[in-house]
Amino acid sequence: FMRSAVTGVGGYLPETILSNDDFARMVDTSDEWIRERTGITQRHKAADGEVTSDLAVAAAKVALAAAGKQADEVDLIIIATTTPDMTFPSTASIVQRKLGVPAGAAFDVQAVCSGFVYALSVADGFVARGLSKCALIIGAEVMSRILDYTDRGTCILFGDGAGAVVLEPVEGEGTPQDRGILGFDLQCDGTKTDLLYVDGGVFDNDYRAGKIRMQGNQVFKHAVHKISQAVESAVEKSNISIADIDWFVPHQANQRILKGVAERLGLDEKKVISTVATHANTSAASIPLAWWEGVRDGRIKRGDLVLIEALGGGLTWAAAAIRL
Ligand code: ACO
Repeated sequence: FMRSAVTGVGGYLPETILSNDDFARMVDTSDEWIRERTGITQRHKAADGEVTSDLAVAAAKVALAAAGKQADEVDLIIIATTTPDMTFPSTASIVQRKLGVPAGAAFDVQAVCSGFVYALSVADGFVARGLSKCALIIGAEVMSRILDYTDRGTCILFGDGAGAVVLEPVEGEGTPQDRGILGFDLQCDGTKTDLLYVDGGVFDNDYRAGKIRMQGNQVFKHAVHKISQAVESAVEKSNISIADIDWFVPHQANQRILKGVAERLGLDEKKVISTVATHANTSAASIPLAWWEGVRDGRIKRGDLVLIEALGGGLTWAAAAIRL
């Protein structure tokens, strides 16, 4: 019985940090409002000319080192991003070149903030079928490039960064105690594309890249119950129960959403890895970045049961259970 196991985790955050006070100088907001409504205190911002593939490469190197793998062993690269360097080629193609990976498949997955969970599910298909021996799954975003810095309802929420994991095949009995990805639930409601989108792209006659538009309170309304449903479904498909979860590693959009989901699922808040205060919402990068932080500070260990979840533009939402 073959499963795909996460054997390395890495991350990268750009050097420049923007505080809430920096935003109070740009738009009509305050440190107090942002902290109270979102839990965010700061976010990282990529340098001019620093693009998604650069962040992805930096995170990938950390994850490969953690897994004890060299770039020439990688045979699959999947990047979850909503801020690709270019319309095409895929950011994964660019990352393959920059990392010096000589062969194998490389492509992007677009499910906005749920992208990392979606990408992991695709990679799991490759690895568990024996089609990949060493897969890199990266969530990477330069959200600062698609923010409208005159819209206080969105510009304060997002940050830049990248996180990566290495997946390798492992043999086992197929029980929930065995290492590997146990189960997923992936969902989309395409009737709600207007709640959260970027107002540029190929449809635009001038082909501008566009900026984020969001009905924040509407997104918020859907978040807690849709995320909870996905978690319950992923838990059921994995033959585990909520009480078995050691670490809950959610997409980091808003501290109030994290708290709401934990309460609804009856999860101890001490089991929730939260980085929203310092990273803000890094879209597809937020789960692997939070995971990396939990690994680095010694909380997340080999043998633990990790539950990841996200909700984002689409609307898409998703959850997965992983035994480390
Ligand atoms: N500073 C001060 N006031 C603000 C700010 C700000 N930065 N942003 C909005 N406001 C104002 C609004 O203009 C509004 O004022 P009004 O009553 O005079 O019209 C008031 O605050 C209340 O606005 P709401 O949108 O109802 O505020 P809410 O409590 O819902 O908080 C927030 C807004 C933080 C955006 C919240 O809705 C939220 O976090 N929603 C989830 C959105 C999200 O996380 N999206 C990303 C998830 S999906 C993904 O990750 C892509």
